[in-house]
Amino acid sequence: QELQMNLEQIEKGGYEHFMLKEIYEQPNVIKDTYRGRLLANKGIVQMAGVEDNLEKFLNAERIIIVACGTSWHAGLVAEYVLEEFARIPVEVEYASEFRYRNPIINKDDVVIAISQSGETADTLAAIKLAKENGAFVFGVCNVVGSSISRETHAGAYTHAGPEIGVASTKAFTTQITVLTLIALRLAKANGKMSNSDYQRYLLELELIPEKVEEALKSNEVAKEVASIYKDATNCLYLGRGYNFPVALEGALKLKEISYIHAEGYPAAEMKHGPIALIDESMPVVVIAPNKGHYDKVVSNIQEIKSRSGKIIAVVTKGDVQVKELADHVIEIPETNEALTPLLTTIPLQLLSYHIAVMRGCNVDQPRNLAKSVTVE
Ligand code: G6P
Repeated sequence: QELQMNLEQIEKGGYEHFMLKEIYEQPNVIKDTYRGRLLANKGIVQMAGVEDNLEKFLNAERIIIVACGTSWHAGLVAEYVLEEFARIPVEVEYASEFRYRNPIINKDDVVIAISQSGETADTLAAIKLAKENGAFVFGVCNVVGSSISRETHAGAYTHAGPEIGVASTKAFTTQITVLTLIALRLAKANGKMSNSDYQRYLLELELIPEKVEEALKSNEVAKEVASIYKDATNCLYLGRGYNFPVALEGALKLKEISYIHAEGYPAAEMKHGPIALIDESMPVVVIAPNKGHYDKVVSNIQEIKSRSGKIIAVVTKGDVQVKELADHVIEIPETNEALTPLLTTIPLQLLSYHIAVMRGCNVDQPRNLAKSVTVE
């Protein structure tokens, strides 16, 4: 028993929980993910699985992404990135819906299956269905040699290392990293992105690990905010564009480990329902980096404010406008718009972690949840 305890403590590397350790590993594992694949100075992005099948990707009428849970959220971010960079139509589906709805799959479709464990039953079944219909199936998995990595035609590993915490953290950011690399490679190959933008994104992606490191400095503020809202019964997460999926992921993280009811919404959809819930006891987490739809998000914040909602905003360092309106701000470093999810997601992970710890929840093994869902 004692030996077991000590082993676990060693595995946690001085952190109180695996989840926290894994959150802090992100700068390093993102680097592991792009090592050898991203040669920014040379203007090269290369991944064997993509190079070997480049024609299939370039001839794709569309890309269908299938996944579950947090991996599905990474798929949503990828939809925005792939469409913006490579101008290839992308559809993102819950694997469980895809497999049972007689979907239209053509042999020119590329299906990307995203899975941390590589064992999720619904995702595996969706892959088999896609293969039966002649599609080329590409896997983005973390666990080497997993069922999904074997069942797919080709793939790219995320290299995040073992993820023990049931709530996915580093798997999510490394999945986004791999998918962004794929988008850049395709954009370069089909010429849909200007050379200067391509080069700019390569250099910026290379800097992401140190910016994640910087974003992790929000830990103290996240803890403070957590102590104020830990007894909330509901929480709303809002984001737009690339950060809409981050809002979904932020809400999922909170509900998974703290058991607080949380919902993620595209900020503009708020007026079609969730706004009715806003009162002085409703914390609203707004993802508001200085890029993209900043002004629109600012007006969403004003709408919440005028209904006395409590605003926790994730902003770019140096922000002034949102700072004046929000009750709390958490800062992240500046980056290119399409890469902001890799940074905005960090304080949201920390926020849910601290809230769950303060509520006395079992952070690494939340009730009713499994790390890998091998049954449907
Ligand atoms: C479970 C886990 C989640 C994960 C989801 C999909 O629900 O608790 O963290 O996102 O399965 O798992 P996968 O291994 O396919 O990414």
